[in-house]
Formats: sequence, C-alpha cells, structure tokens
Amino acid sequence: MRLIFLGDVVGRSGRDAVLRHLPVLRESLKPDLVVVNGENAAHGFGITEEIFNSLREAGADVVTLGNHAFDQREALVFIARENRMIRPLNWPEGCPGNGSALVDTAKGQRVLVINAMGRVMIEPQLNDPFPAVNRELEMCRLGVDCDAILIDMHAEVTSEKMAMGHFCDGRASLVVGTHTHTPTADHHILVGGTAYMTDAGMCGDYDSVIGMDKAEPLNRFLRKLPVERMRPADGEATVSGVMVDTDDKTGLALAINPIRVGGRLSQALP
Ligand code: FE2
Repeated sequence: MRLIFLGDVVGRSGRDAVLRHLPVLRESLKPDLVVVNGENAAHGFGITEEIFNSLREAGADVVTLGNHAFDQREALVFIARENRMIRPLNWPEGCPGNGSALVDTAKGQRVLVINAMGRVMIEPQLNDPFPAVNRELEMCRLGVDCDAILIDMHAEVTSEKMAMGHFCDGRASLVVGTHTHTPTADHHILVGGTAYMTDAGMCGDYDSVIGMDKAEPLNRFLRKLPVERMRPADGEATVSGVMVDTDDKTGLALAINPIRVGGRLSQALP
C-alpha cells in the first residue's frame, strides 16, 4: 500500500499549493491514502469547514490537527459530524470529535490514522500521548485488524517525536511528526519496520518564520514587543511531506521518501 502524508498547511498560500499539487501527486504517485495536517490552514490558526471540504476535494482522505485544532470555533461543531477530520486523541475527555479514524481505501484495505500531541514545550497540556497511542495500537493490531497504521505526532521537540517513533516501532506503518513547520532529513525505517520522520515540514511559504510573514516575528525577537498580529507569509508555498510504501501482508514499511514540490525548498519527489 502507498501512503502520502503532507505536513501542516499554513494559510492561503499553503492551501493554494495543496489544491494545485495534490491532485497531480495523486495522479502521478497513485497513493492509496492521503493524510494532510490542516491545523494552520485558516490564516495560520485552525480550520473551517469550507477549508476542510476543499482539502478533501483536492485529494486528502483524512485531515489531522494539533494544538490549533479549535482556534476557529466552528471546528468544535463540525468535527463532531465529520469522521474524516481528527484531533489529538490525548485531548482530555469531553473534547468533541475523535482522535483516530479507521478508513477503507478504494481497494478495500483498512488504514488506521491516529493523531497525537506531545506535551513538551507546547500548549495546551493534554493527557499523556504514550498510553493513549498504546491503547489504539492494542485495539487495532497492524497486519491483523488493519492493513496500515499512520500516526501524526504533533509536537515541538524532536526527542518526544523520536521516542514516539520507537514506542510504536513494529506496530505502525508510519510515525511522522508535525508542528515545527520544518522538514527534517531523518526519514528512515526503524529497526522494527516502522517508517519514521521527525517532522514532515509545512505546506507553506518558506520565505517566512515558520510560515508567518517575517516582519512581526522579527519585531518580537528583536524588540521584545508585539507590534501587530501574526499573518501567514503569502509567497508561493512548498508542498512538504513524505511517501511510504508498505508490505500488504505485515503493514510494515518497505520504503520512505520525502516530498517537496513548488516554492523555495529544494525539490524532492520519490
Ligand atoms: Fe501546531
């Protein structure tokens, strides 16, 4: 099976790039499932139902979220009826929506998508993601109860994401990090057979400070004063993510390759 994961879509330029490039990637790479992190899609903060629907139409089968999941208040409402949009599963009880989705591909294979959030240097402080992910993996065993498992670990620090990768090694097809908006070059298959990448990078304009127009972050770093609101940079975005091929019998990874298309980053296609 072939999985594609695209990192955090930031603002209009990120959305435009995904809407332009994802249909082409679907056509050329023929993935069985595409997952996109959409938590910064609405002007950098959260997601609206209209944006969610546009990502789905462009070819995203499942949209994951993170610390900005509910910045747009309407997400609290439409996530309850939308099982293809998931928020971190370790959100305390009472949070609307689900933290995982079991999806059938066009070929009839079953993929479990899990969204988790770290707790180091990130707010809000959720429940411990490790036992939460463990419960999911015990309930839905790779190669037994489903054909592939993709985990989006939304976290700030590399160590927490790497630990989650090893914690799930041999039990998931892919553990990929999001949130830092910077793609890492450590995509590889862990010893137990799980594909891993510390951060997928963002789908956004890299002539920026993690997707935001450079002026205001520089104000805050240099003068220690907020001058205006943060707004997403609006140059051409790079679609950034990863592609994983899995063994149909075991669900474990056979190959992992980065995707970087358009915009300023050096280009990479499997
Ligand atoms: Fe985030």
